[in-house]
Amino acid sequence: MADTILVTGGAGYIGSHIVVELAGAGYIPMIVDNFATSSPSVLPRLRRITDQPIPCTAGDVRDRAVMKRLFAEHAISAVIHCAGLKAVGVGEAQPVAYYDNNVGGAITLVEAMTGAGVKTLVFSSSAAVYGQPEKNPVPENALLRPASVYGRTKRMVEQMLEDVASLDAQWSIGLLRYFNPAGAHSSAQIGEAPSATPNNLVPVLAQVADSDAPEIAVYGNDWNTPDGTGVRDYVHVMDLAAGHVAAMAYLKRAGGVTTLNLGTGSGHSVIEVVAAFERACGRPIARRIAPRRPGDVAICYADPSRAQQLLGWRATRDLDAICADAWRWQVNRHR
Ligand code: NAD
Ligand code: UD1
Repeated sequence: MADTILVTGGAGYIGSHIVVELAGAGYIPMIVDNFATSSPSVLPRLRRITDQPIPCTAGDVRDRAVMKRLFAEHAISAVIHCAGLKAVGVGEAQPVAYYDNNVGGAITLVEAMTGAGVKTLVFSSSAAVYGQPEKNPVPENALLRPASVYGRTKRMVEQMLEDVASLDAQWSIGLLRYFNPAGAHSSAQIGEAPSATPNNLVPVLAQVADSDAPEIAVYGNDWNTPDGTGVRDYVHVMDLAAGHVAAMAYLKRAGGVTTLNLGTGSGHSVIEVVAAFERACGRPIARRIAPRRPGDVAICYADPSRAQQLLGWRATRDLDAICADAWRWQVNRHR
């Protein structure tokens, strides 16, 4: 009998791609989501891609009764915890809501898992736990000094999970620190669908290329980087999803906490990403140099060698593939 994996936040951008990859690997994925930043319309799309119904409970991970019932009614073997709020700027303005949702949600989840004896967990963490990296590429043992409320909520959950695992050796926990996820499933049926105005570079480019939006703002061209614009590690969301499937297999064998960077190991500047997006959409994208965005850093890219060593995982898709898939999704998403 295949293992049932609960994906919290599975209707969201990254969760939905993980669901597809889990189904492809023979797992039975199920979702709990409160649709705070997503829509149930992803469910029929997931059914079409995976050729199977994906059970989904509409509920909040902070709701003890909902979570207890989920574990009582389904033989769940493991959980991938994607549910959370991720808008860095909103977190600065509404810290309590971010701690409540991100930290509170993880607490309720771990309580429900403990009650049900389910002790295998993957947590969606972020490169935001590093803040301004001292050196690049960034290894997992780099200094952790998150520069945002959002990053602090992620680090707090990591710390709680480290404490939980050190008390009970039956837990097997993966802390997966994502760098800059982007792109979409090749079917163009699912992808990033920000409900508010996008802030991340690739969705901003997709929107600008698809509309009369005149130009993109490049946040600074005076950074200490080769072309003066910020450098990041853009990782294709399907590579990221494959990393979760590899982590699931690994966590079954391993115990304790395994912390892994999920990135490609190379960085691209804003100017390089704009050029790649122009190639993907076949039209020029106007740009305007704007002031630096508060909280930004010059360069951040992963040392992903630990994930390769332990999981046998590495990203296989490049920036052109990311932009091509993001563009196909942008064109297709309203159909
Ligand atoms: P997303 O907003 O598309 O997905 C999050 C999902 O969680 C949504 O479907 C939302 O409705 C759901 N959700 C939020 N709070 C919930 C709650 N209390 N109960 C139930 N469901 C809830 O975001 P995403 O990009 O898919 O991110 C998934 C996870 O990965 C998040 O935890 C995020 O912090 C983390 N992450 C994302 C990025 C990124 O760039 N996208 C980078 C690093 C880490
Ligand atoms: C941001 C968050 C990070 C979070 C990640 C995923 C900040 C400081 N960091 O990462 O914590 O984990 O999103 O949600 O917000 N850029 C432009 N113009 C734009 C948009 C972006 O020039 O319109 C530049 C940025 O300055 C940066 C690069 O593009 O150099 C990537 O930005 P973005 O996609 O927002 O990701 P991060 O800032 O790396």
